[in-house]
Amino acid sequence: MRISTLLFLIPLRPAAAAVRPDTTPLALKMLDSIIAREQGVVVDPSVKTSVIEGGLLLLGISEVLENMPLTQELDEKYESYLDLVMSGLVPVLQNVTVDVRSPLDEFSVGTQFIKQYQKTGNLTLLSTIQTLHQTDLLRNRQSDGSYWYYVYPNVTTQDGLFSIPSFHSAYAHEFDPNNALTAYQTSALQFSNIIDRCLSHSTGGLLYHGYDPTRSFPNWGNLTSRGHSQSIWARAVGWTCMGLLTTLDVIPDVPATAAIRKELRGIFVQLMSAVARAQDGASGAWWQVMNFPGRQGNFLESSATGLFAYALLRGLRLGYLGTEDGDKFSARQYRRSADRAYDWLVNKALLELGDGTLGYNLTVDVCSINSTTAFDFYVAQPLKPQSLLGEVGFLLTDLEMQLAKK
Ligand SMILES: *[C@@H]1O[C@H](CO)[C@@H](O)[C@H](O)[C@H]1NC(C)=O
Ligand SMILES: *[C@@H]1O[C@H](CO)[C@@H](O)[C@H](O)[C@H]1NC(C)=O
Ligand SMILES: *[C@@H]1O[C@H](CO)[C@@H](O)[C@H](O)[C@H]1NC(C)=O
Ligand SMILES: *[C@@H]1O[C@H](CO)[C@@H](O)[C@H](O)[C@H]1NC(C)=O
Ligand SMILES: *[C@@H]1O[C@H](CO)[C@@H](O)[C@H](O)[C@H]1NC(C)=O
Ligand SMILES: *[C@@H]1O[C@H](CO)[C@@H](O)[C@H](O)[C@H]1NC(C)=O
Repeated sequence: MRISTLLFLIPLRPAAAAVRPDTTPLALKMLDSIIAREQGVVVDPSVKTSVIEGGLLLLGISEVLENMPLTQELDEKYESYLDLVMSGLVPVLQNVTVDVRSPLDEFSVGTQFIKQYQKTGNLTLLSTIQTLHQTDLLRNRQSDGSYWYYVYPNVTTQDGLFSIPSFHSAYAHEFDPNNALTAYQTSALQFSNIIDRCLSHSTGGLLYHGYDPTRSFPNWGNLTSRGHSQSIWARAVGWTCMGLLTTLDVIPDVPATAAIRKELRGIFVQLMSAVARAQDGASGAWWQVMNFPGRQGNFLESSATGLFAYALLRGLRLGYLGTEDGDKFSARQYRRSADRAYDWLVNKALLELGDGTLGYNLTVDVCSINSTTAFDFYVAQPLKPQSLLGEVGFLLTDLEMQLAKK
C-alpha cells in the first residue's frame, strides 16, 4: 500500500511545481529566512543594536500580518513568532533603573507592545509598557526638550527618533488622553529640534547624525556652531524617516492635531526630497556617509537604502509625498527613485544562501555617536551579514512594492 502510494505521488510533485512558478513575495521569503535563523528571539543587551532590531522586527512582522494576504497557517506562524520576539524582550525591559541607562532604542519596542496590547489585552505587555512609561518620565532631557539618546551628556541623535516620539505619543493616546496633545507636541519637538540643529544646507536638507547644544562632548571636538556632529550618516537619517512615519501613525487625524500633523508631514516631505536628491545616480542606492558621495572609502549601504526605499513607498501610499505645494518632486519621481533603490537591493544586497533561505549583505554594523563622528570613522566600521536592520528594511520595502502593485 505504502509503496504504491509513493510511486503514485513522486512523479506528480515536480511536475506540479514546474507549472506553478514560485510567486511567494520576497518579503515573506525574507521573514521565513529570519524565522529559520531564529533572529530576534534571544535579546542580548550587550549587543548594542539588539533592542532596536527587536523594535524594527516587530514592526516588520506586524506590517506583514496587517497588509499581506496570508494562509491561516502562515498567519499563525507569524503571530506566534511575533509573540516569541516579544517574550524575549520582556525580561530585558522590566527594570526602570536599568532601562533609564539604556539607549532610547527600547521605546521602539514599546510602540509595538502598545499595539499588541490593544489587540490582545495581554497583561505582561501592559506591565512592560508601564515600565517603559516610568522610564520615559525619568530620562534626561536637554534644555530645549530633546531627549538625550543615551548616557552621553547632552547628546541627542537621530537614532532615538525611531523610538521615543512614537512611543511617547502612543502611550498618551492609549493611557493618558488628557495629556495627549502635550505629548504629541513633545514628540514633534524631537524632530523640529533636530532640524534646527542638524540640518545641512549644502546637501539640500539632509541631517547630521546628532547634536550637543553645549558643544562640550569630548569625542567630537568643538567644531560646529550649532553643535552638531561632523558627518551625515545614512542609517541615522533613515531612523528619522521611519520615526516621522510611525509618529504620524499614532497621532490621530483630528482637528486638534491638524497643526502638529502638518508640521510633521512638512518635515517628512522636506527630508524625503533631500534623500531622493542624494540618491546615487549610477546605482540607485545611498552612501554610508551622505555628505561625501563617491569619496575614497565610502560605500553604498543596504540598511539605509532599505529604510529610504520603504519610506518613499509608504509616504507615497499614504499620500504624503508628491502631493503638497512646494514638494520638490512629483509622485512619479519619488516612485522612480524607490524602484531604482529596490532593484539595487534585490541585485546587490539580497543573497541566496544555498539552504533555501535569503541572506542580506552590505549592512554596516553599529556606528556609535561616542566617536569622532568624522568621515574616516563611519567608513571604517565593518559590515554585518544578515543584519536585521538591513533585512527588515528590505522586507518592508518589498511589502510596500506588493501593495503598490494593487
Ligand atoms: C503575553 O505576552 C507575552 C509576551 O509576548 C507572552 O509570553 C505570553 O504568553 C502572553 N500571555 C498570554 C496569556 O497570551
Ligand atoms: C533593578 O536593577 C538595579 C541595578 O542593576 C538593581 O539594583 C535593582 O535591584 C533592580 N530592581 C529590581 C526590582 O529588580
Ligand atoms: C546639559 O546637561 C546638564 C546635566 O548634566 C544639564 O544641567 C544642562 O541643563 C544641560 N544643558 C542643556 C543645554 O541642555
Ligand atoms: C566652543 O567654541 C565656541 C566658540 O567657537 C565657544 O564660545 C564655546 O565656549 C566653546 N565650547 C566649549 C565647551 O569649549
Ligand atoms: C558582501 O559584500 C562584500 C562587499 O562588496 C563582498 O566582498 C562580499 O563578497 C559579499 N558577500 C557575499 C556573501 O556575497
Ligand atoms: C565613549 O568613548 C570614550 C572614549 O572614546 C570611552 O572612554 C567611554 O567608555 C565610551 N562610553 C561608553 C558609554 O561607551
